[in-house]
Amino acid sequence: MSESRPEHPKRFVSESDSNLRRALARLSCERGDITGVDVDAIGNAANAELAGGGGVDGAIHRAAGPGMMRELTERYPRGCSTGECVITAGYDLPARFVLHCVGPIWRGGDHGESAQLASTYRSALALAESVGATTLAFPAISAGIYGYPHRPSADVALSALALDLASRPSIESVRMILFSEELHRIYSTALAELARTISAS
Ligand code: APR
Repeated sequence: MSESRPEHPKRFVSESDSNLRRALARLSCERGDITGVDVDAIGNAANAELAGGGGVDGAIHRAAGPGMMRELTERYPRGCSTGECVITAGYDLPARFVLHCVGPIWRGGDHGESAQLASTYRSALALAESVGATTLAFPAISAGIYGYPHRPSADVALSALALDLASRPSIESVRMILFSEELHRIYSTALAELARTISAS
């Protein structure tokens, strides 16, 4: 999934219309722990082996229980490519589904990272829609161990989500769940700036 689509708000303002404004209203940022969020599907920041790890991946596996890893191993023995995602049940989590998203490892920004990160979120929305999930929550994929700089990760994530939501009216809400106050501030500022860019266009 590496089709090239614009990821930065300033690059897609010409596409903005009332659908995009409505999409933005379904997107929000809050501080919190995604393992406790009660929505149809949460995103996980997984690795390509789907092998579990630290960060939010470790927290989600701990909270879900061992059934989730068993399902991953049985259904996806070959793992998942960067920029894509796979789905499992949520087991002991409040969420019904988990979207295991493989974001890019930051390698300086000239290796297709932004297109891959945008693709990761788009894949997750498509998969969520295919199982009838209408309320979603995501952590800041790639913005931890994978080293994606925070503000660029916010611009890519929020732009990709807003654009994709505009063509998926069945998805009611996407909540970005930011683990630290700093990340919450950065994503909230990026969302406010995106809203201003769109309303000025
Ligand atoms: N809820 C929400 N966000 C969380 C939580 C949580 N419980 N725990 C951590 N985070 C945040 C981190 O603070 C970071 O901002 O999730 C964001 C993503 O960080 P990572 O979990 O490190 O994910 P990523 O950068 O995509 O790296 C993925 O890390 O854990 C391994 O197996 C995973 O190899 C993969 C790699």
